[in-house]
Amino acid sequence: MTSANSSLSLISPDLPPAPPSNATPAKIGVLASGNGSNFEALIQAIADGQIRAEIPIVIYNNPDAAVAARAQRWGIPAVLLDHRQYQSREAFDFDVVQALVQAGSEWIVMAGWMRRVTDVLIDRFPKRAINIHPSLLPSFPGIRAIDRALAAGVKITGCTVHFVTLEVDAGPILMQSAVPILAGDTSETLHARVQVQEHAILPRAVRLAIGQ
Ligand code: GRF
Repeated sequence: MTSANSSLSLISPDLPPAPPSNATPAKIGVLASGNGSNFEALIQAIADGQIRAEIPIVIYNNPDAAVAARAQRWGIPAVLLDHRQYQSREAFDFDVVQALVQAGSEWIVMAGWMRRVTDVLIDRFPKRAINIHPSLLPSFPGIRAIDRALAAGVKITGCTVHFVTLEVDAGPILMQSAVPILAGDTSETLHARVQVQEHAILPRAVRLAIGQ
């Protein structure tokens, strides 16, 4: 059984190209803390013409985050803002917002952004910040969602794309995909199948949010 076949997702694998339009592309700033595979799914969908958008900046907060090299390969400026250098969450978010705005961002996609956000960010991008989370919210919000789903013994988990609000992983849901938990699943095997679905729904949900 392939990972794609073991999904209960009803979402087809192919997202058709965005309809032609003279409208200027949406500018989406990306925030990421780690690997960046969701960022790559998004930029690939843009490159394939499935979303009429540009990513003017990727901001990352961990110096060794692999997303930086991925962004550079796509020719996208990658800016390190290390939260450890800041006195407060608000001061950190202030600089994040400054960098996003200076790059021309109209939307934010948090593609594995492992930071709680403050009203400094939410107020500047109301209903324009989107997050992806590896569970079927409202189940298992917060950290270690995959491990907690395994520990709880649920038979189906998945992923959710939602608008960001001050409450962690609790904003309005844009899209979800279900993934069954199989006998013998480990954190790694389950996360790998959840990520296949994340990469499918993130571009779709972004396209939905920006109205294309
Ligand atoms: C994803 O599983 C996402 O749901 C969670 O962090 C992970 C990021 O993965 N918030 P990647 O860095 O995009 O590969």
